Amino acid sequence: MALNDKGCSDFHISPKLAAAKKASEIVEDGMVIGIGSGTTVELFIKELSKRISHEELELFGVPTSYQSMLLAIEAGIHLLDLLECSELDICIDGADEVDLKLNAIKGGGGALTREKIVAYASREVVFVVEERKVTKILKYPVPIEVLPFSTGYVLKTLSKVMRDYGSSSKPRLRHGTGKLGPVITDNGNFIVDCDFGDIENPKKLEKELSLIPGVVECGIFAGVADRIIVGGEGGNTYELSR
Ligand code: 5RP
Repeated sequence: MALNDKGCSDFHISPKLAAAKKASEIVEDGMVIGIGSGTTVELFIKELSKRISHEELELFGVPTSYQSMLLAIEAGIHLLDLLECSELDICIDGADEVDLKLNAIKGGGGALTREKIVAYASREVVFVVEERKVTKILKYPVPIEVLPFSTGYVLKTLSKVMRDYGSSSKPRLRHGTGKLGPVITDNGNFIVDCDFGDIENPKKLEKELSLIPGVVECGIFAGVADRIIVGGEGGNTYELSR
């Protein structure tokens, strides 16, 4: 009997596993996949790995982090990078929060820059989330990847932007576990988390943040997803689409 990530049987499948399984079913033989990062993507890759061995699929992938690279190798997905292949068939990724207009906030795992590049390079973008991450108005603290050299200037500028948006919090340099000091991304940069409260216009804020010199990328993905697979309690899934 198959066990899910919480060790329960498939009769009590978790929302995350249900969504990841559904995402694995839309992949077709020969596809080039943009592979996101995170725990949902980890389950997706493991489900895909079962299909690769049972159905002898040949799949190609551009991973967005060392996490997904290692998992993809283990699953038997052939690795590619964007130098070899500038357009991908599909991008499958998790998200920290999504709204009903398919905007998303990503970067909880610090892989947002490569995730955004891979999403834009893909013909179809699918985000995979548990139902608790669906909201009417985005409000998850926005992860921002920052060039270390620019940190002082960027923190000052972000504080001003946050005040302009009515937020009373301050930008927070992300610190991790397992190593002292700030989190260093797979691109050698820092991550700053900014709590803007309710984000009424994600597109506008995404543009504004991206224009700050020293900001490599921000975790708002406005208008990028074509479909969102949502996993509900009890293992049901449904889709949000354009
Ligand atoms: C990593 C991401 C992840 O997709 C996001 O944080 C969701 O992760 P999880 O599936 O573990 O909840 O954006 O940068």
